[in-house]
Amino acid sequence: MKIHVVANEQEMSIKTANIIADLVRKKPNAVLGLPTGSTPLGTYRELARMFREENLDFSQVHTINLDEYIGLSKYHPQSYRSFMRKQFFDHINIDGRNTHVPDGMAKDVEAECRRYDEMMFRYGHTDLQLIGIGPNGHIAFNEPADSFTPDTHVSILTESTINANQRFFQNPDDMPRTAISLGMRGIMSTRHLILIACGEGKAEAVANSCFGPVTPRVPGSLIQLHPYVTVIADEAAMTLCPNKLSELDD
Ligand code: PGA
Repeated sequence: MKIHVVANEQEMSIKTANIIADLVRKKPNAVLGLPTGSTPLGTYRELARMFREENLDFSQVHTINLDEYIGLSKYHPQSYRSFMRKQFFDHINIDGRNTHVPDGMAKDVEAECRRYDEMMFRYGHTDLQLIGIGPNGHIAFNEPADSFTPDTHVSILTESTINANQRFFQNPDDMPRTAISLGMRGIMSTRHLILIACGEGKAEAVANSCFGPVTPRVPGSLIQLHPYVTVIADEAAMTLCPNKLSELDD
């Protein structure tokens, strides 16, 4: 695990965007696993800037998103499909047919989960998987539980996640309580896993994920078993793991 401690969110975003841009330049048809949330916003902005100003070409790139709320159509402003369009896809030259987000309105959600896994494994793996982390240690919507869930599945959101995400909804009660989430196998089968985090609200989750026991109670802790992980976090998010940093920082 390589850990980069950066001064602030902007540095985190630029460093992350540079890694993604390098991959896309080397491999124009790269498959990117992408998250939503506030943490990746700056990364998407920087990548869009690179598209406009540096000819970074996304025309052959494929993307697979981590999750989607159940019950929100792709046109709902708070759906993750809308988020990706507004924050990233509308600002680059990606082919919409190459972008994948679970369908939160699927009549048969279990079938939609299977379809998503089949789609994902037809690609074989993602070249890079970007993830944020929830204050409770969740990655995608893999919430703390008694066991890890390998497959794409219906996740019942925890109180912590509902509290963290309700701020995006005009009426907090409108936030769905369930979501379709990529499972741990989908996340872990990537070539390069990048965890980004900023702010002290993530400090406990980052410390437990990077240095705690590997346990489904802290889903992010599974990243310790991945052979190629990069953590990019600001100082605030690293405050609970400073002593061990010298062992891991490059
Ligand atoms: P955030 O969410 O980026 O909005 O903090 C991260 C997550 O819940 O995985």
